[in-house]
Amino acid sequence: MTMADDQQKRLLALREEIHLHSYRYHVLDDPIISDAEFDRLLNELKTIEAAHPEWITPDSPTQRAGAVAADKFEKVRHPNPILSLSNAFNSQDIRSWYERNLKLDERIQRSALVVEPKIDGLTVVLHYRNGVLVQGATRGDGEIGEDITANLRTVRAIPLRIPVDPHGPQPPAYLAVRAEAFITLQDFEALNHRLQEAGEKTYLNPRNTAAGSLRQLDPALTASRPLTILSYAIVAADGPVPATQWDTLAYLKALGFPVSDLIRLCPTLDEAISVCAAAPTQRDQWPFEADGMVIKLNDLQLAADLGIVGKDPRGAVAVKFPAREVTTRLQNIGVNVGRTGVITPFAILEPVEVGGVVVRQATLHNFDFIAEKDIRILDRVLLKRAGDVIPYVIGPIVSARTGEETPYQIPTTCPACGQPIENIPGEVAWYCVNAACPAQLVRNLEHFVSRPALDINGLGIKIVEQFAESGLVRDVADLFTLKREQMLTLEGFGERKADNLLAAIESARQQPLARLINALGIRGVGEVMAADLAKYYPDLEMLSRASVEDLQTIEGVGPNIAAAIVDWFSRPANQMVLTKLKAAGVWPTSIPPAPPAPGTQPLEGMTFVITGTLPNLSRDQARELIQNNGGKVTDSVSKKTSYLLLGAEPGSKLTKAQELGVKILDEAAFLALIGKA
Ligand code: IVH
Repeated sequence: MTMADDQQKRLLALREEIHLHSYRYHVLDDPIISDAEFDRLLNELKTIEAAHPEWITPDSPTQRAGAVAADKFEKVRHPNPILSLSNAFNSQDIRSWYERNLKLDERIQRSALVVEPKIDGLTVVLHYRNGVLVQGATRGDGEIGEDITANLRTVRAIPLRIPVDPHGPQPPAYLAVRAEAFITLQDFEALNHRLQEAGEKTYLNPRNTAAGSLRQLDPALTASRPLTILSYAIVAADGPVPATQWDTLAYLKALGFPVSDLIRLCPTLDEAISVCAAAPTQRDQWPFEADGMVIKLNDLQLAADLGIVGKDPRGAVAVKFPAREVTTRLQNIGVNVGRTGVITPFAILEPVEVGGVVVRQATLHNFDFIAEKDIRILDRVLLKRAGDVIPYVIGPIVSARTGEETPYQIPTTCPACGQPIENIPGEVAWYCVNAACPAQLVRNLEHFVSRPALDINGLGIKIVEQFAESGLVRDVADLFTLKREQMLTLEGFGERKADNLLAAIESARQQPLARLINALGIRGVGEVMAADLAKYYPDLEMLSRASVEDLQTIEGVGPNIAAAIVDWFSRPANQMVLTKLKAAGVWPTSIPPAPPAPGTQPLEGMTFVITGTLPNLSRDQARELIQNNGGKVTDSVSKKTSYLLLGAEPGSKLTKAQELGVKILDEAAFLALIGKA
C-alpha cells in the first residue's frame, strides 16, 4: 500500500468518525468526546484535504461552509407538491375531519393516528442522491421553492451523508425528506442576550430569525445562527420506503435525521384527541415554539388515496393552539441596565392573562423598535407569549388611540446611577459608561459567578445584590477577600451559610483560565471564545498585552471582538481588578507547569502535623505550602511523623511529639526548610 493509500484510508475513517460525533452532538444531544477532541479530528481531516484537494467531496464534514450566492437564489421545482394543512380548533373540528374521511373510505377505522407537534418554523426539503445531500430548498409556493443548499449545509443537525451510522439502513438512490427548520427558544434567548450585550440589534422572534437566517446570501451568516431541524416526512423516493407515518419517523431517525420525541402513536381517535387536548398545558416545557398539533393517518397509502382539497391533504389536520397573543395597555416604559452597561427598554403593562400566565412586563427589544413602531405610553399594544420565555410586544393598536397617548423619550441618565447615558456611533444600543454603576456591578457579579464562568455555588442574585449594596464588594475581585465576619453582618447570613459560601469561593480559585476569561464579561467573549483565548495566552497578563492585530490571528476573533478585548484591558478600573485578582491568588495559567521531577521537592516523603497558631501563616496556607512542596499533612502525631510545625498555644500534640522524639519546627525554621525564609 502506498502512502497516499494510507492517507486516503485515514481520510475516509476520519470523515466517518466526524459525521458520527457531529450526529451525536447535534441530533442525539449526547456527545461522547470533548469539543477539543472533535476539533483535533476535524483539523487532521482539513490537513489531509489541503494536501489532496482532489479528494474533497461535498459530503465531507469540512464542506459545511460554502461560497456566497449571487444576488438571489435559484428556483427549484419540488418533485411532489409540498402540501399545507387544513385547520381544526377544537375536538369537534377534529371529529368532523375524521367523519368526513370515514364517509370517503371505511379503512380509516383500521388506521392508527400519529400526533405530532406543529413546529413554528419553516419547511425545508432535503434531497439525497446515493446518500449524499445534493440539494436543499425552501417550500416557496409549494410547487417551486428556492435553492438554499449552501445555507442548509451549515445546519449541523442536517446530515450531509446518510446513513450517518454506517450500520443504519441504506437509503434508496434518491430520497427527498421534508423537515421543519427552526431555532429553539433557549438558543433564541441566548442569541438575543449576546447581541444585546454586544450593543447590537436583537431579533424580534424565533420564526422570523430562522426564516431570515435561511435566506442569507452568505452561508457564513447562516452558520452563525443556531438553526436546527426536525424531520417528519418523505416527499419522494425511488425505492421502497415505509408504509406508515410511524415507521417513516423511525426510518428517518435510523438514517440519522433528527425526529421529535414528542410524537405519539394513537390507536384511536379519542386518544389522538386527548393527546391534543393535553398539549396546550405542556407546550411551555417544549424546547421550540409550536402553534398546534398535527394529526396524521398512520396508513400513508390510505392518506394518499383520500387525496387533497386545494393544497390540503385530507389525510392530516392541524389542530391549532389557542393564540397566545392578546392586547393590553402599555402603562409605562422602564429600562434595564445590562452587564456591559447596555440600557434596554421594557414594557410595563396592565396585567393580562395569556395562555394561563399573567403577564406584567414584556420586552420592547431596543429604543429603535419603539421609534419604528411608534409605540406611545398608554397605547393599547399587541403582545405575544412564546414558550416560557419573556413575552414581547408586537406593536401598537393605532386604531384604539384616544389622544391621551404620549410619545416616549429615551432617558438621558442611567436609572441606577444617574450618570448620563451614551450612544456609541454605529450601534443601536445606549450605554451607561460609568464603570462604578451599581446595576452593572450586580450584573457583572452575577455573570462572574455563573455556572459557565467561575461557577460559585450558592451565590445567587439576592446575595450578589446584598454584597453590592452593602459596599462589601465593589468589584469582582473583592469576592476573594471577603471575610466571614463581614458576611455575618448581612441579613440572613448565619455561620453555616457564610462558611459554605467561603468554601465555594475558595474552590473557585482553582478554576481554569478559560472560565476566568469568560467570567470577566468582555463584550463578545463567551465560553467558546474564552476557551480559544486561553489556548493562545497562558495567563491574563499575556492576554492583556495582546494587540488588536495579535488577537485577530485567532480563528473566530474579528476586528470588533479584538477591539473590545483591548478596550477592556485598557480601562484602569479593569486593570485594578486584575491586580487584585493576582494579589488574591486567583491567577490560573493555561499551560500546566511540568510536574516536578522525582526527588526535586524539598518535603518529598515527609509527613507534617501542625499545632497552635503560627505567627504569619494560616493553617490552610501552611498546609498548602507543605503539599506544594511535596509533603503530606496529617492530624495526629505518630512515629511516622517527620515534623511537628509548632505555633503559639499548642495542644496535646506537642507533648505527644516530645514523647515520641518527633522533630519540632517553628514557622521560621519551616520556611527555611522550603527555601522561603
Ligand atoms: S405535515 C402533508 N407535520 O405546518 C404534510 N407539518 O401547513 C403537511 N409543520 O408549513 C405538513 N410541523 O411547515 C406537518 N409535524 C409537522 C409539522 C408541520 C410543522 C408546518 C409545515 C407547514 C405547516 C402546515
